[in-house]
Amino acid sequence: MKDQAELLRQKMLQKSAFSAAQKRKAVRTLAIVSGKGGVGKTNVSVNLAVGLAKINKKVLLFDMDIGMGNIYHLINGSPSSSIVDFFENDFPISQFIQMGPEGISYIHGGSAFSSLFRWEDSYQKKWVSALEALMEEYDYFIFDMGAGATEESLNILQAADEVLAVTTPEPTAMTDAYSMLKFIHMRDRQKTFYLICNRVDSLKEGRETGHRLKSTMERFLHVTPVFLGSIPEDANVRKAVKMGQPFLLSYPKAKISFSFQQIVREYAEELEEIPNEGSRFLDKLRRFFKERGGYE
Ligand SMILES: Nc1ncnc2c1ncn2[C@@H]1O[C@H](COP(=O)(O)OP(=O)(O)OP(=O)(O)O)[C@@H](O)[C@H]1O
Ligand SMILES: [Mg+2]
Repeated sequence: MKDQAELLRQKMLQKSAFSAAQKRKAVRTLAIVSGKGGVGKTNVSVNLAVGLAKINKKVLLFDMDIGMGNIYHLINGSPSSSIVDFFENDFPISQFIQMGPEGISYIHGGSAFSSLFRWEDSYQKKWVSALEALMEEYDYFIFDMGAGATEESLNILQAADEVLAVTTPEPTAMTDAYSMLKFIHMRDRQKTFYLICNRVDSLKEGRETGHRLKSTMERFLHVTPVFLGSIPEDANVRKAVKMGQPFLLSYPKAKISFSFQQIVREYAEELEEIPNEGSRFLDKLRRFFKERGGYE
Protein backbone atom coordinates (compact mmCIF):
# COMPACT_ATOMS: atom_id res chain seq x y z
CA MET A 1 0.00 0.00 0.00
CA LYS A 2 2.81 2.34 1.03
CA ASP A 3 4.70 1.44 -2.17
CA GLN A 4 1.69 2.25 -4.30
CA ALA A 5 1.31 5.69 -2.69
CA GLU A 6 4.99 6.36 -3.24
CA LEU A 7 4.67 5.31 -6.89
CA LEU A 8 1.72 7.66 -7.34
CA ARG A 9 3.58 10.52 -5.69
CA GLN A 10 6.57 9.99 -7.96
CA LYS A 11 4.34 9.89 -11.04
CA MET A 12 2.72 13.16 -10.04
CA LEU A 13 6.10 14.78 -9.43
CA GLN A 14 7.31 13.62 -12.85
CA LYS A 15 4.14 14.96 -14.46
CA SER A 16 4.47 18.40 -12.88
CA ALA A 17 8.18 18.60 -13.77
CA PHE A 18 7.26 17.71 -17.35
CA SER A 19 4.53 20.34 -17.61
CA ALA A 20 6.82 22.97 -16.04
CA ALA A 21 9.37 22.22 -18.74
CA GLN A 22 6.64 22.44 -21.39
CA LYS A 23 5.49 25.79 -20.04
CA ARG A 24 8.98 27.25 -19.76
CA LYS A 25 9.35 30.04 -22.23
CA ALA A 26 12.20 29.76 -24.66
CA VAL A 27 14.99 32.29 -24.54
CA ARG A 28 14.63 34.82 -27.34
CA THR A 29 17.87 35.46 -29.18
CA LEU A 30 18.24 38.79 -30.96
CA ALA A 31 21.17 40.18 -32.95
CA ILE A 32 21.25 43.94 -33.48
CA VAL A 33 22.92 44.79 -36.77
CA SER A 34 23.48 47.55 -39.29
CA GLY A 35 25.29 47.96 -42.56
CA LYS A 36 26.78 51.40 -41.97
CA GLY A 37 28.50 52.04 -38.64
CA GLY A 38 27.51 54.60 -36.04
CA VAL A 39 23.75 54.45 -36.70
CA GLY A 40 22.80 53.67 -33.08
CA LYS A 41 23.05 49.88 -32.58
CA THR A 42 24.74 50.07 -29.19
CA ASN A 43 22.30 52.66 -27.89
CA VAL A 44 19.41 50.52 -29.12
CA SER A 45 20.92 47.35 -27.58
CA VAL A 46 21.49 48.87 -24.15
CA ASN A 47 18.17 50.70 -23.97
CA LEU A 48 16.28 47.65 -25.25
CA ALA A 49 17.94 45.53 -22.55
CA VAL A 50 16.99 48.10 -19.90
CA GLY A 51 13.46 48.48 -21.28
CA LEU A 52 12.90 44.72 -21.17
CA ALA A 53 14.36 44.52 -17.66
CA LYS A 54 11.86 47.19 -16.60
CA ILE A 55 9.07 44.82 -17.58
CA ASN A 56 10.65 42.08 -15.48
CA LYS A 57 12.49 40.20 -18.19
CA LYS A 58 15.91 38.71 -17.55
CA VAL A 59 18.31 39.95 -20.17
CA LEU A 60 21.89 39.04 -21.03
CA LEU A 61 23.54 41.55 -23.34
CA PHE A 62 26.55 40.35 -25.32
CA ASP A 63 28.89 43.02 -26.64
CA MET A 64 29.81 41.37 -29.91
CA ASP A 65 31.61 44.34 -31.36
CA ILE A 66 34.65 42.27 -30.48
CA GLY A 67 37.74 44.34 -29.82
CA MET A 68 35.79 47.59 -30.00
CA GLY A 69 33.22 46.92 -27.32
CA ASN A 70 31.67 50.05 -25.88
CA ILE A 71 28.52 48.89 -24.09
CA TYR A 72 30.29 49.43 -20.78
CA HIS A 73 30.67 53.15 -21.61
CA LEU A 74 26.90 53.47 -21.81
CA ILE A 75 26.35 51.94 -18.39
CA ASN A 76 29.34 53.27 -16.49
CA GLY A 77 30.78 49.78 -16.20
CA SER A 78 34.39 48.85 -15.57
CA PRO A 79 34.59 45.26 -16.81
CA SER A 80 37.65 43.27 -15.80
CA SER A 81 37.33 40.64 -18.54
CA SER A 82 35.73 40.19 -21.93
CA ILE A 83 34.33 37.68 -24.41
CA VAL A 84 37.83 37.57 -25.95
CA ASP A 85 39.18 36.21 -22.64
CA PHE A 86 36.35 33.66 -22.60
CA PHE A 87 37.24 32.35 -26.05
CA GLU A 88 40.97 32.33 -25.39
CA ASN A 89 40.89 30.68 -21.95
CA ASP A 90 39.19 27.79 -20.21
CA PHE A 91 36.93 29.42 -17.66
CA PRO A 92 33.14 29.00 -17.57
CA ILE A 93 31.11 31.72 -19.31
CA SER A 94 29.46 32.67 -16.00
CA GLN A 95 32.76 34.21 -14.87
CA PHE A 96 32.55 36.79 -17.65
CA ILE A 97 29.09 38.11 -16.80
CA GLN A 98 28.94 41.60 -15.30
CA MET A 99 25.95 43.36 -13.80
CA GLY A 100 24.46 46.53 -15.31
CA PRO A 101 21.57 48.86 -14.43
CA GLU A 102 18.05 47.49 -13.74
CA GLY A 103 19.56 44.04 -13.14
CA ILE A 104 20.66 43.47 -16.72
CA SER A 105 23.67 41.23 -17.22
CA TYR A 106 26.28 41.89 -19.87
CA ILE A 107 29.48 40.47 -21.30
CA HIS A 108 32.08 42.99 -22.40
CA GLY A 109 33.37 42.87 -25.97
CA GLY A 110 36.99 43.75 -25.19
CA SER A 111 38.95 46.76 -26.40
CA ALA A 112 41.92 47.15 -28.70
CA PHE A 113 41.83 43.51 -29.78
CA SER A 114 40.18 44.02 -33.14
CA SER A 115 43.18 43.14 -35.24
CA LEU A 116 44.07 40.15 -33.04
CA PHE A 117 40.73 38.36 -32.64
CA ARG A 118 40.13 35.58 -35.15
CA TRP A 119 37.42 32.96 -34.88
CA GLU A 120 39.09 29.57 -34.34
CA ASP A 121 37.42 26.19 -35.01
CA SER A 122 37.84 25.32 -31.32
CA TYR A 123 35.57 28.24 -30.39
CA GLN A 124 32.53 26.61 -31.99
CA LYS A 125 31.90 23.98 -29.35
CA LYS A 126 32.73 26.45 -26.61
CA TRP A 127 30.22 28.95 -27.96
CA VAL A 128 27.41 26.39 -28.23
CA SER A 129 28.07 25.02 -24.71
CA ALA A 130 28.22 28.52 -23.23
CA LEU A 131 24.86 29.53 -24.71
CA GLU A 132 23.35 26.23 -23.64
CA ALA A 133 24.57 26.73 -20.07
CA LEU A 134 23.03 30.21 -19.91
CA MET A 135 19.71 29.79 -21.70
CA GLU A 136 17.81 28.47 -18.67
CA GLU A 137 18.53 31.65 -16.74
CA TYR A 138 17.46 34.31 -19.22
CA ASP A 139 14.45 35.43 -21.22
CA TYR A 140 16.54 37.31 -23.79
CA PHE A 141 20.02 37.15 -25.24
CA ILE A 142 20.80 40.38 -27.07
CA PHE A 143 23.90 40.50 -29.27
CA ASP A 144 25.15 44.00 -30.08
CA MET A 145 27.06 43.42 -33.31
CA GLY A 146 29.79 45.42 -35.00
CA ALA A 147 28.86 47.19 -38.25
CA GLY A 148 28.89 45.25 -41.52
CA ALA A 149 29.58 41.58 -42.20
CA THR A 150 32.73 39.65 -41.32
CA GLU A 151 33.59 35.97 -41.00
CA GLU A 152 33.47 36.36 -37.18
CA SER A 153 30.08 38.04 -37.21
CA LEU A 154 28.65 35.27 -39.40
CA ASN A 155 29.59 32.68 -36.74
CA ILE A 156 28.04 34.78 -34.01
CA LEU A 157 24.89 35.65 -35.97
CA GLN A 158 24.01 31.97 -36.24
CA ALA A 159 23.19 32.06 -32.54
CA ALA A 160 20.27 34.44 -33.10
CA ASP A 161 16.77 33.48 -34.24
CA GLU A 162 15.86 37.14 -34.60
CA VAL A 163 17.69 40.04 -36.24
CA LEU A 164 17.00 43.72 -35.66
CA ALA A 165 18.45 46.09 -38.24
CA VAL A 166 18.99 49.69 -37.21
CA THR A 167 19.11 52.31 -39.94
CA THR A 168 18.83 56.07 -40.21
CA PRO A 169 16.77 57.72 -42.96
CA GLU A 170 19.94 58.44 -44.96
CA PRO A 171 19.96 56.54 -48.27
CA THR A 172 23.51 55.23 -47.61
CA ALA A 173 22.49 53.75 -44.25
CA MET A 174 19.37 52.19 -45.81
CA THR A 175 21.27 50.65 -48.73
CA ASP A 176 23.89 49.23 -46.38
CA ALA A 177 21.20 47.90 -44.02
CA TYR A 178 19.55 46.12 -46.94
CA SER A 179 22.89 44.57 -48.04
CA MET A 180 23.49 43.33 -44.49
CA LEU A 181 19.99 41.86 -44.22
CA LYS A 182 20.40 40.17 -47.59
CA PHE A 183 23.74 38.71 -46.47
CA ILE A 184 22.09 37.28 -43.34
CA HIS A 185 18.97 36.03 -45.10
CA MET A 186 20.98 34.19 -47.76
CA ARG A 187 22.70 32.20 -45.01
CA ASP A 188 19.64 31.49 -42.87
CA ARG A 189 16.18 31.73 -44.39
CA GLN A 190 14.41 31.16 -41.07
CA LYS A 191 15.35 34.31 -39.23
CA THR A 192 12.72 36.79 -38.11
CA PHE A 193 13.61 40.36 -39.07
CA TYR A 194 12.82 43.63 -37.30
CA LEU A 195 13.58 47.19 -38.36
CA ILE A 196 14.09 50.39 -36.40
CA CYS A 197 14.65 53.79 -37.95
CA ASN A 198 16.87 55.96 -35.74
CA ARG A 199 17.58 59.71 -35.74
CA VAL A 200 14.39 60.70 -37.54
CA ASP A 201 13.17 64.31 -37.82
CA SER A 202 9.55 63.18 -37.80
CA LEU A 203 7.53 60.00 -37.32
CA LYS A 204 6.48 60.32 -40.95
CA GLU A 205 10.10 60.21 -42.08
CA GLY A 206 10.67 57.09 -39.93
CA ARG A 207 7.54 55.35 -41.23
CA GLU A 208 8.49 56.09 -44.85
CA THR A 209 12.03 54.78 -44.33
CA GLY A 210 10.72 51.65 -42.63
CA HIS A 211 8.17 51.12 -45.36
CA ARG A 212 10.76 51.51 -48.13
CA LEU A 213 13.15 49.00 -46.57
CA LYS A 214 10.31 46.60 -45.82
CA SER A 215 8.99 46.69 -49.42
CA THR A 216 12.50 46.17 -50.82
CA MET A 217 12.93 43.11 -48.61
CA GLU A 218 9.51 41.76 -49.59
CA ARG A 219 10.19 42.31 -53.27
CA PHE A 220 13.73 40.96 -53.52
CA LEU A 221 14.17 38.65 -50.54
CA HIS A 222 10.53 37.52 -50.14
CA VAL A 223 10.58 38.12 -46.39
CA THR A 224 8.44 40.52 -44.40
CA PRO A 225 10.26 42.28 -41.57
CA VAL A 226 8.41 43.80 -38.61
CA PHE A 227 8.87 47.56 -38.42
CA LEU A 228 9.13 48.26 -34.68
CA GLY A 229 9.11 52.06 -34.93
CA SER A 230 11.27 55.17 -35.06
CA ILE A 231 13.56 56.98 -32.65
CA PRO A 232 13.80 60.76 -32.96
CA GLU A 233 17.03 62.72 -33.31
CA ASP A 234 17.60 63.93 -29.76
CA ALA A 235 20.54 65.70 -28.10
CA ASN A 236 19.73 63.78 -24.90
CA VAL A 237 21.31 60.66 -26.45
CA ARG A 238 24.75 62.28 -26.55
CA LYS A 239 24.26 63.72 -23.07
CA ALA A 240 23.27 60.30 -21.71
CA VAL A 241 26.26 58.66 -23.43
CA LYS A 242 28.57 61.25 -21.84
CA MET A 243 27.06 60.52 -18.43
CA GLY A 244 27.48 56.78 -18.99
CA GLN A 245 23.76 56.07 -18.69
CA PRO A 246 21.10 54.64 -21.00
CA PHE A 247 18.79 57.49 -22.09
CA LEU A 248 15.77 55.50 -20.85
CA LEU A 249 17.13 55.95 -17.32
CA SER A 250 18.64 59.43 -17.46
CA TYR A 251 15.77 61.02 -19.44
CA PRO A 252 12.73 58.81 -18.76
CA LYS A 253 10.29 61.65 -19.52
CA ALA A 254 11.91 62.79 -22.77
CA LYS A 255 10.17 62.22 -26.11
CA ILE A 256 12.88 59.77 -27.14
CA SER A 257 12.19 57.55 -24.11
CA PHE A 258 8.48 57.60 -24.83
CA SER A 259 9.11 56.46 -28.44
CA PHE A 260 11.57 53.87 -27.27
CA GLN A 261 9.26 52.40 -24.65
CA GLN A 262 6.72 51.84 -27.40
CA ILE A 263 9.38 50.00 -29.41
CA VAL A 264 10.20 47.82 -26.38
CA ARG A 265 6.51 46.93 -25.95
CA GLU A 266 6.11 46.28 -29.66
CA TYR A 267 9.10 43.91 -29.63
CA ALA A 268 8.19 42.16 -26.37
CA GLU A 269 4.65 41.52 -27.57
CA GLU A 270 5.80 40.02 -30.86
CA LEU A 271 6.18 36.27 -30.43
CA GLU A 272 4.84 36.50 -26.86
CA GLU A 273 3.54 32.97 -27.28
CA ILE A 274 6.55 31.30 -28.78
CA PRO A 275 6.47 27.54 -28.39
CA ASN A 276 8.99 25.79 -26.17
CA GLU A 277 11.75 25.68 -28.74
CA GLY A 278 14.50 26.94 -26.49
CA SER A 279 17.16 25.00 -28.31
CA ARG A 280 16.07 25.94 -31.84
CA PHE A 281 19.00 28.32 -32.26
CA LEU A 282 21.35 25.81 -30.65
CA ASP A 283 20.33 23.06 -33.07
CA LYS A 284 20.83 25.44 -35.96
CA LEU A 285 24.15 26.57 -34.56
CA ARG A 286 25.39 23.00 -34.17
CA ARG A 287 24.25 22.15 -37.71
CA PHE A 288 25.93 25.27 -39.09
CA PHE A 289 29.26 24.44 -37.46
CA LYS A 290 29.03 20.76 -38.49
CA GLU A 291 28.50 21.75 -42.12
CA ARG A 292 31.56 23.97 -41.96
CA GLY A 293 33.66 21.25 -40.29
CA GLY A 294 35.63 21.41 -37.06
CA TYR A 295 32.72 20.37 -34.82
CA GLU A 296 32.30 16.74 -33.80
N1 LIG B 1 18.53 59.19 -31.72
C1 LIG B 1 19.71 59.82 -31.64
N2 LIG B 1 19.77 61.17 -31.51
C2 LIG B 1 20.96 61.80 -31.44
N3 LIG B 1 22.15 61.19 -31.48
C3 LIG B 1 22.16 59.86 -31.61
C4 LIG B 1 20.95 59.08 -31.69
N4 LIG B 1 21.28 57.79 -31.80
C5 LIG B 1 22.63 57.72 -31.78
N5 LIG B 1 23.16 58.97 -31.67
C6 LIG B 1 24.60 59.34 -31.65
O1 LIG B 1 25.33 58.43 -32.43
C7 LIG B 1 26.41 57.89 -31.69
C8 LIG B 1 26.65 56.49 -32.16
O2 LIG B 1 25.67 55.63 -31.61
P1 LIG B 1 25.99 54.08 -31.31
O3 LIG B 1 27.32 53.96 -30.67
O4 LIG B 1 24.82 53.55 -30.61
O5 LIG B 1 26.07 53.54 -32.81
P2 LIG B 1 26.58 52.11 -33.31
O6 LIG B 1 25.74 51.75 -34.49
O7 LIG B 1 26.61 51.15 -32.19
O8 LIG B 1 28.08 52.43 -33.77
P3 LIG B 1 29.19 51.35 -34.19
O9 LIG B 1 28.85 50.92 -35.60
O10 LIG B 1 30.47 52.13 -34.13
O11 LIG B 1 29.13 50.24 -33.22
C9 LIG B 1 25.98 58.04 -30.22
O12 LIG B 1 27.05 58.17 -29.35
C10 LIG B 1 25.18 59.32 -30.24
O13 LIG B 1 26.03 60.43 -30.09
MG1 LIG C 1 28.17 49.92 -31.44
